[in-house]
This record gives sequence, C-alpha cells and structure tokens, in this order.
Amino acid sequence: MTTYLLNPGGKLTGNVRVPGDKSVSHRSIMLGAIAEGITEVSGFLEGEDAISTMNAFRAMGVRIDGPLQGRVTVNGVGMHGLRAPSGAIDCGNSGTSMRLLSGLLAGQDFACELVGDSSLMKRPMRRVAEPLSRMGADIATGADGRPPVRIAPAKALRGIAYDMPVASAQVKSSLLLAGLYAQGRTCVREPAPTRDHSERMLRAFGYRIDVNGNQVCLDGGGKLRAAPIQVPADISSAAFFMVGASIAPQSDILLTDLGINPTRTGIIDILRAMGADLTLSNQRELGGEPVADIRVRSAKLRGIAIPEHLVPLAIDEFPAIFIAAANADGETVLTGAEELRVKESDRIQVMADGLRVLGVNATPTPDGMRIVGARAAASPATATAHSYSGGEIDSHGDHRIAMSFAMAALTARAPITIRDCANVATSFPGFVEIAVRAGLAIRAA
Ligand code: S3P
Repeated sequence: MTTYLLNPGGKLTGNVRVPGDKSVSHRSIMLGAIAEGITEVSGFLEGEDAISTMNAFRAMGVRIDGPLQGRVTVNGVGMHGLRAPSGAIDCGNSGTSMRLLSGLLAGQDFACELVGDSSLMKRPMRRVAEPLSRMGADIATGADGRPPVRIAPAKALRGIAYDMPVASAQVKSSLLLAGLYAQGRTCVREPAPTRDHSERMLRAFGYRIDVNGNQVCLDGGGKLRAAPIQVPADISSAAFFMVGASIAPQSDILLTDLGINPTRTGIIDILRAMGADLTLSNQRELGGEPVADIRVRSAKLRGIAIPEHLVPLAIDEFPAIFIAAANADGETVLTGAEELRVKESDRIQVMADGLRVLGVNATPTPDGMRIVGARAAASPATATAHSYSGGEIDSHGDHRIAMSFAMAALTARAPITIRDCANVATSFPGFVEIAVRAGLAIRAA
C-alpha cells in the first residue's frame, strides 16, 4: 500500500514532459500486433495499464521488444496470426485493455478469458458484450455484466450498425476491432463525440475508415500495414499539473509535447471557462495526432456550470477539475456525467468524500457534483488561497483520485495524507519524482 504525504503550499514551475498517452499506447500494441510488418513505437507509456496490454499480446505469441526509454518494437503477426493464450489474460486495472481486447478477441478462432484486479472485476462489460453478441460473437460476462469476460472461438462475425447508448470510445473501439474480422460493414454511431485515436491509428495503418458526422464505419476483411507510432504526452496526466499551476499562486509551468486531439481537450475548455491562464504554442502533428506545448500560470478561478457537451471530452479529468472547483470563487456544477460512477472508482462519491474531509462544500448528485469553491465559502477574514484544511484521503486505489488530491495540497492549510496510491503507476509512472521537481511537497511512503 503506497501512501502519499503532502505538506501544504508551494508553487509549480519549470518544464514538465508527462509520460506517453495511455489510449494511444494501448492501441499501438493492439494494432501493431495484428498488422503485417514491424511497428516501432516511441514515447510509449511504461505504465501498468499499457504493460497489461503488452503482456496480453505476448501471451498470444506476439514478439514485443521493450519498453526501453519509451521505445517498443511490435513484430506484427497479421490479422490471423494470434495464438491461444495458455491461461486467462489478466488486464490488471485497465478497462481499456479489457474492453478493446473483447472486440479484437471476438474475431479469433480460439477461446479466451479476460480477468482483472478488484476494481476492474466490478466494472460494466455488458456494454461491449451485448453489441458483440449481436455481431455473432460467443461472449459471456460474469454476474451483473461484470468480468470475467469469456469468449468462445469465433464463428462468422457479421457487421452491424450500432447506436451506442453511452458515449464511450472504449465501446466504439471494441466494435471497430471486431468489425475488422466481420463480414460486411460495421457502423457505430455515438451520442456525443468521444476520443478518436482508434480511427486515426487504423488509418495510419492503411485501413479505410469512413467517418460521417457522428457515425464511423469500416468494412471487415482488410489488412493492417505496420506504421511508426510516436506517442504524445498524455493530456490526462498533464491535467493534474494544469490544475495545480492554476490554483497555486506564482506558478508558471510549461507542459511539453501534449496531445491536443480535439476529442481530448475538454480540460482546456473547462479550465479556461473558469478563468485559467493557459497558452498553447509550438503546435504540430506527431504520428497523426495534434500536439502542442501548454504554458499554465496561476489565475483566479471562478465556478461555472460545466457544459454537458464537454463531459466526454474531459471524461478522465473530472477528479482534477473538482480540485480546481474547490479553489474557485463561487459554485461549480457538473451534470450529465453519470459515467464517472463506473470508472476505476465511483469518482463522484470518492471525490465528494475526500473534498468533505478537507472541509469543502461538495454535494454529489446521481450524474455529477456541486462544489462551492472554498474561497467563496471562507469568511472574509480567512478568504485567502489557503482556504481548506488538510486531512486523510482514501483514493480507493484510483490513480486519478490520488493525483488530484496531491495537487489539492498546494492550497491546503495543513498536510494531506492520501492512502492507497500504488495504482498511480497504472497511468503515471514517476509521478512523485516529476511532481517534486515541479515544486509539490510530496513524498511516498
Ligand atoms: C479510453 C476511453 C475512456 C477513458 C479511458 C480510456 C480509451 O473510457 O475513460 O480512460 O482509451 O478509449 P470510455 O470510453 O469508456 O468513457
């Protein structure tokens, strides 16, 4: 059990390159494995989630070298070259591994079982199992639609047109991966835009994808050609530093090489609407993904009603956004975000509990949260930036909860202790070292 110990105060400064994008790293292994030829990946996230995906493909006979300083070489086996693993595939804490693999494995001629850690074993899988069955997959979940996911050898998959009830890139990607193995055309319609890394990377691997408004389609039966993948820094990991630098007085930080795919930039729009000072520079393309450096300076934040269309575009960033809200003037209201309840933890409840420990006025709702900024809530005499207390937070093993409360210490009046932080390694290896260098008074015990 890792615990974070934080002293209050400080500011964030300097240049920070956070680790590689988790979503892009997963997909580089998956598509590289079933492509023809050798895929060279750089900037790969050496975090436990991406390693879970890597180990899954190694277990299916794919030779993968690395990661070594972010470099990975995937020796593609082609569309039909995967072999049956000798036991269940352990996806660890990674929902992306389990949901995307479900789609890809639905098209293989061998059986397999997907399991995970105690958090993943509670997460909903029917959202992929149900449409995959409609495609002809022989797939079963455990009780209540939770893992394990058991997939029998594929008969013939057929393409379907599917209207997704939830805006989920994982579901969309899972069906597209199954669609590669299906007869005919697979079309997925999403209720709101979600991250499109799968579509971009499939194209980079030479596969035809037709995107029309909110619908994406592909024909099964084609092939993927290996292509080099440069993984940008993960905007979801940078989000903690964006919030930290915004709330801590005299901060000035440059976050470099960040992926700014427009399906991921809700955090920028939300923080700017709250009054944050974010400047983008050096905009360029890296392996089919737009990239920029982002300078963040401290600013006086105000509470807002978060526009619902930004929810899927910032879906992983709400724990950090709640900390920004706790430091703002006035009330922040989030609605339309019930998906947060089925992430690595129930992020609405766990964040509300933690904020209340600090004395912040946070009210969870079924689909969001209401937070009264601590500045506004404090009496005029105490209305400084340092306007909530310290205390002991339980992260419930959720990496993003742990990193969010670490940033909260920058403006707390007393030390913050965060329990159950080992899973930060799933998405952000080296978080403590990078945070210390930037100015956070954090230590792991
Ligand atoms: C991801 C999609 C999101 C996100 C997750 C990664 C992906 O999940 O929360 O961390 O790589 O496709 P949903 O698509 O289920 O919202």
